[in-house]
Amino acid sequence: MAAGLDKNGAAIDGFAQLGFGFVEVGTVTPRPQPGNPKPRIFRLPQAQAIINRMGFNNLGVDHLLEHVRAARFNGVLGINIGKNFDTPVENAVSDYLIGLNKVYAHASYITVNVSSPNTPGLRSLQFGDSLKQLLDALAERREVLATEQRKRVPLAIKIAPDMTDEETALVAQALLASGMDAVIATNTTLSREGVEGLAHADEAGGLSGGPVRERVRTQCVCWPVNWQGACPSSPLAASPRARTQPRRSPPGRAWCRCIRGSSIEGRH
Ligand SMILES: Cc1cc2nc3c(=O)[nH]c(=O)nc-3n(C[C@H](O)[C@H](O)[C@H](O)COP(=O)(O)O)c2cc1C
Repeated sequence: MAAGLDKNGAAIDGFAQLGFGFVEVGTVTPRPQPGNPKPRIFRLPQAQAIINRMGFNNLGVDHLLEHVRAARFNGVLGINIGKNFDTPVENAVSDYLIGLNKVYAHASYITVNVSSPNTPGLRSLQFGDSLKQLLDALAERREVLATEQRKRVPLAIKIAPDMTDEETALVAQALLASGMDAVIATNTTLSREGVEGLAHADEAGGLSGGPVRERVRTQCVCWPVNWQGACPSSPLAASPRARTQPRRSPPGRAWCRCIRGSSIEGRH
């Protein structure tokens, strides 16, 4: 189960009972925040797609951790961290460090979300000096936590699908240089390719589902090449259909993350 459905970690055991062995909760921010005004999620059923501008609505990291501590789930638990909407992007590193410090003891892996299109400025953290500063700070802090807690929790960076191949290569170099463990490809897209003219297609937010599939497929090929075999676990692929996942998994060791299409199709 991918990030975004269980932002507060409130249903971890419920997902386990549904058969999920791999659940990512969040995105969680240091402080609670309401997210964007409703309506903020739109179905585009003809394209098997969703546009959302939820805006990291969540009850804060402390609240999420209460749920995580109470959960009996013993599968893979990813905790996805982000920054509060009112934290200036220049201070974003401090929000991610708060998240990292707090969730470290409780996560199988930690996802650093720098790719939501619904938090102003967030995606700028994917590039250049901003990315380097963030990654260096996270890597340094992870070393301290790993020594203190005697476990090295993998760090995954979740990226947007809206990068050129050159940008992807630069990001890959930065991730490798800082010792990140995985990349999650991908978050939602700002593109409206494939949904032009459909009802709700002009709503602001990130598009996911069917129209993003091809881009994700490309990323799944692109990332192992960029990692040059140096990454211990190649990309996590987002797919709206669990049963189509094996066909698009990249060669080599891969984590596969699946998202069901139920939120697109609703009760049908
Ligand atoms: C309603 C909704 C909320 C989401 N919230 C988050 C989130 O909080 N954090 C995050 O990293 N991704 C979030 N996502 C992105 C998904 O985890 C996933 O990366 C994206 O939907 C692309 O996969 P898909 O096309 O298979 O749905 C959200 C997606 C949707 C549809």
